[in-house]
Amino acid sequence: MIEIAPSILSANFARLADDANAAIRGGARVLHVDVMDGHFVPNLTVGPPVVASLRKAVDIPQDCHLMIENPDEYIPAFVDAGASWISVHQEACRHLNRTLELIRSHGARVRVAINPATPVQTLGEVLDLVDHVLVMTVNPGFGGQRFIPGTLEKIRKLATMRTAKGLNFRIEIDGGVSLETVGASVRAGAEILVAGSHVFGRGDPGRNVEALQRAAEEALLQRA
Ligand code: DX5
Ligand code: ZN
Repeated sequence: MIEIAPSILSANFARLADDANAAIRGGARVLHVDVMDGHFVPNLTVGPPVVASLRKAVDIPQDCHLMIENPDEYIPAFVDAGASWISVHQEACRHLNRTLELIRSHGARVRVAINPATPVQTLGEVLDLVDHVLVMTVNPGFGGQRFIPGTLEKIRKLATMRTAKGLNFRIEIDGGVSLETVGASVRAGAEILVAGSHVFGRGDPGRNVEALQRAAEEALLQRA
């Protein structure tokens, strides 16, 4: 099953709940929340208070993408605020195994993210600990960037590793997802597609989610 995860980074922060609910009316079942600290990535965004407010205003799970240094220090606060899925970057975790176990121990779904320059093989020893792997298809930090085509090969490699190891984590991509890139991504093996500017940067968010979902499902038929 394919899921579109709208990223609120490109929403209007003055009417976040309205934008999020518009995307939900189009079929979104998870909301992607980009957390940036100005150190791991050169940008700043939101923290647990925004997650807590959104939790009261929307009915779907929040997927917190932590693009921050020292994520262990903040994981409990994000889960307490209402994050149901947490992803941390392999590049930000000195003790990745410990961090993934920490997320699990707080009851959230465990995800690990990798930047475009990070080989998928660096996750070989933790794939059995995660529910999802998030392949960044742009360099993290900003919305509206161009999809990096070389990342498609990483998606294919991950799918092969999953079969070889008999695991069932899901493969998620983030960055540059649009009607132009969704087909190749799904055919390569992407199952959860994070989209920011393509959902919130143009027209009605609900219709944009629907269009992406349709394009992804057509590509899925081609893959099968
Ligand atoms: C970038 C963020 C993305 C961002 C994607 O660092 O992780 O989630 O919102 O934005 P688009 O879809 O515009 O590339
Ligand atoms: Zn993200």
